[in-house]
Amino acid sequence: MKIESYLQCVRCGKTYDIGELRYNCDCGGILDVKRDLSQVDGEFLKALWEQRWGMKRGIESSGVWRYRELILDAPDDKIVTRQEGNTRLYAAGSAGTWAGLSNLYFKHEGENPTGSFKDRGMTCGASAAKLFNAKTVACASTGNTSASMASYAAVSGMKSVIFIPEGKIAYGKLAQALAYGGITLQIEGNFDDAMTLVQQVCKELGIYLLNSINPFRIEGQKAITFEILQQLDWQVPDWFVIPGGNLGNSSAMGKALMELHELGIITKIPKIAVIQASGANPLYTMWTEHTPYQAVKNPETIATAIKIGNPVSWEKSLRAVEWSKGTVEQVTEQEIMDAKAKLDAAGIGAEPASCCSLAGAKKLADKGVIGKDETVVGILTGNILKDPDAVIGYHKDTLGDKGIRGTFANRPQQIPPTLEAVKKALGV
Ligand code: F0G
Repeated sequence: MKIESYLQCVRCGKTYDIGELRYNCDCGGILDVKRDLSQVDGEFLKALWEQRWGMKRGIESSGVWRYRELILDAPDDKIVTRQEGNTRLYAAGSAGTWAGLSNLYFKHEGENPTGSFKDRGMTCGASAAKLFNAKTVACASTGNTSASMASYAAVSGMKSVIFIPEGKIAYGKLAQALAYGGITLQIEGNFDDAMTLVQQVCKELGIYLLNSINPFRIEGQKAITFEILQQLDWQVPDWFVIPGGNLGNSSAMGKALMELHELGIITKIPKIAVIQASGANPLYTMWTEHTPYQAVKNPETIATAIKIGNPVSWEKSLRAVEWSKGTVEQVTEQEIMDAKAKLDAAGIGAEPASCCSLAGAKKLADKGVIGKDETVVGILTGNILKDPDAVIGYHKDTLGDKGIRGTFANRPQQIPPTLEAVKKALGV
């Protein structure tokens, strides 16, 4: 199916050819991929996607390329896929009880090939790189984007260059970037400095930029929303709750919903709640104080994935929140880690940034913004194994220097190797 597409600036509306290699408008605004959906039959698309559900192999067995009509118009031989997506949607169990929500679900994007939601955007971004005949790709990252990019570059024979803030990313992610063979440049400074540098490097050296400023990354990322709705048999929940860092994921969710709505595949619009860490909260400040956008200078949070003060996609994310009549909330370090302890102890588990979804859902339920019986889907963005240091620190209660207590700590116990000692430990 051929759907006409083009690029459009989210700030001034100027349009560009879809084949033009650019990430920004002449005015400096970021770009959207736009599609002419006026002649597209939504019911037909939905039926096609249903037919592809459960395919065992091939491009359309991917949880992104199942929806390829709304992802990227690319021939099969340009598509770089690891059968990403197809992640589970869990009932929240005891974590839902803790949050005071009776219909809370989690979409576990940590079950993607490299352990984070980034693989959905990356399969599309890497395929776009192939369409542009790129040999080298680059990104700045707080860890997950770099792990994903290094993997997708490796499977498709591209070189990858990674810019990460020195000493500020979780070990599991650094390990992946190195293991997949990415050229890993640790820079002095934070993520925002790395982001500025990588844009300059890509422009000067003709390297293809794979951060979510790249509009094709956002296109792939939309598939989380498509897949959740398909898993719910197209019954639209009341809320989506999603962590916000560079604000690509929430942007993609909004765009996915707008397209489904335009196609008539959904009629109800769910509210999007973006949750930021209180130490890295530019969108929250803007939203609550009705002030113009202003970057946070020295962002700080234990959830290193979202330690971002100057998110590139804030305009698109704000558009998503406004359009869906959603909200923006912030959560403290203690709230993030306590929510993580509860999510992990429910048997589900995710990395700290992901737990903003649970912490935020609970906070919004406590405030009465989210009704206790409303249907809520939280996005878990990264795998529990990405950041073992945070887990051990919490359970050993050694995060005092960060102002975090091990409220629900499950301390490891040291015992002598005797039956008596075991009985004592078990209280039997
Ligand atoms: N959760 C995790 C685990 C992440 O890695 C990120 C972003 C986010 C949430 C926030 O998503 O940026 O779309 O708002 N990580 C990026 C990276 C910045 O470099 O891996 P966002």
